[in-house]
Amino acid sequence: MDNRFAVILAAGQGTRMKSSLYKVLHPVCGKPMVQHVLDHVSKLDLAKIVTVVGHGAEIVKSELGDVSEYALQSEQLGTAHAVMQAASYLENEEGTTIVICGDTPLITPDTLNSLLTHHQETNAMATILTAKADDPTGYGRIVRNEMGTVEKIVEHKDATELERGIPEINTGTYCFDNKELFKALSNVSNDNVQGEYYLPDVIEILQKEGKIVSAYQTASFDETLGVNDRIALSQAEKIMKQRINKEHMRNGVSLIDPDHTYISADAVIGRDTVIYPGTMIIGETVIGENCIIGPNSEIKNCTVQNETTIRQSVAHDSHIGNSVAIGPFAHIRPSSTISDEVKIGNFVEIKKSTMGKGSKASHLSYIGDAEVGADVNLGCGSITVNYDGKNKFLTKIEDGAFIGCNSNLVAPVTIGKGAYVAAGSTVTNDVPEKALSVARSRQVNKENYVDRLNNKNS
Ligand code: UD1
Ligand code: CA
Repeated sequence: MDNRFAVILAAGQGTRMKSSLYKVLHPVCGKPMVQHVLDHVSKLDLAKIVTVVGHGAEIVKSELGDVSEYALQSEQLGTAHAVMQAASYLENEEGTTIVICGDTPLITPDTLNSLLTHHQETNAMATILTAKADDPTGYGRIVRNEMGTVEKIVEHKDATELERGIPEINTGTYCFDNKELFKALSNVSNDNVQGEYYLPDVIEILQKEGKIVSAYQTASFDETLGVNDRIALSQAEKIMKQRINKEHMRNGVSLIDPDHTYISADAVIGRDTVIYPGTMIIGETVIGENCIIGPNSEIKNCTVQNETTIRQSVAHDSHIGNSVAIGPFAHIRPSSTISDEVKIGNFVEIKKSTMGKGSKASHLSYIGDAEVGADVNLGCGSITVNYDGKNKFLTKIEDGAFIGCNSNLVAPVTIGKGAYVAAGSTVTNDVPEKALSVARSRQVNKENYVDRLNNKNS
């Protein structure tokens, strides 16, 4: 196999998005579209990937990291001009170069491989990935001669009425013989309606030189959608969502209502897990087997082990163990570790805390900056008072401790192993192992007080 390279075009502003976020950074299923493109391209066996950046260059570079090299296009003079910026990395290389747009997040590695194979089999100097569109408006059209050979690509804005009737579109993805590409680029002019240097013009240049130019038509237009505006963005989201959800279902995950289940492209979910509607699984979340998630839950960047239930709840950046029951209406905030067999019930918030194995906070609690041991019972309304208005302090609750209902644990404070805290206590000092702490005023019952009061008033 010859050397293979890729150029990703990602320098445009994306005016039609009407956004302060650069177009290629708009997320599709939670991941910037250019990241999808890079991830797909990275699956091919390539010697070099060069991403052409311009608008928001630094942000795009830091998003994508060092999987790619970067060429700067400081002025956006068109797609041919963009590819030319990669010359310093590529122009002397022998091999095949894929060029792909950063705004086509749905093109799969399989299709790119088929494109490469077609390119090789037809001994072409250039191969265009094309598709038939029901509504080709806005796309470049593939103009073929009577023999069916590709002659050129004409941009929608430059096309005649007759050409606009052509349903076959340029997806913006191509394979080129690398040397021929860079030679042809220097002959591209900007003599067109938009005054831009069009990459598609390379096709006509090579064709006129008598080089073999071919086209590989993919059956799925959906895959080739170019995202130029928010309408296309929502279409891309829908298609990507269906693709991701089907893949999970094929792998043994039950989605009760896939149309209302949102799973990020990078999430991993184990077999026999059931996901109920209204659930969003965001970022790099890993969920184990036999879990029940949802309805209406949001889980972001979490690891959840097996046999765990999370109902109507939110969990971010946390680790959740095996056979845990969370919800309904619980909030697990970042940097929390919820160990095996823990129960977190309704209206409980956990922040930056560890809950040891088998511990329970079943109702109406706030546990922040706390280390809770194993088999601890946090009664209804237990609160860690972790903040004095300036600083946060740690609460330690050791194994087997029992915190009575409606208790305030004023941090820094430690509740020793097996200790009891009486209901309604406000604990400000450490409680030793196995002690009972009662930190509230004693009850006083005034006998017949009401009668006395009534007699006084009559
Ligand atoms: C382009 C193609 C069109 C094709 C369509 C497929 C050209 C001239 N037209 O049109 O034939 O049907 O894609 O989706 O190529 N970019 C740069 N620098 C520039 C200009 C663009 O990096 O100077 C990048 C953009 O960030 C974008 C990509 O190239 O990711 C495509 O540019 P865009 O303006 O979206 O081209 P289209 O009008 O969609
Ligand atoms: Ca586009």
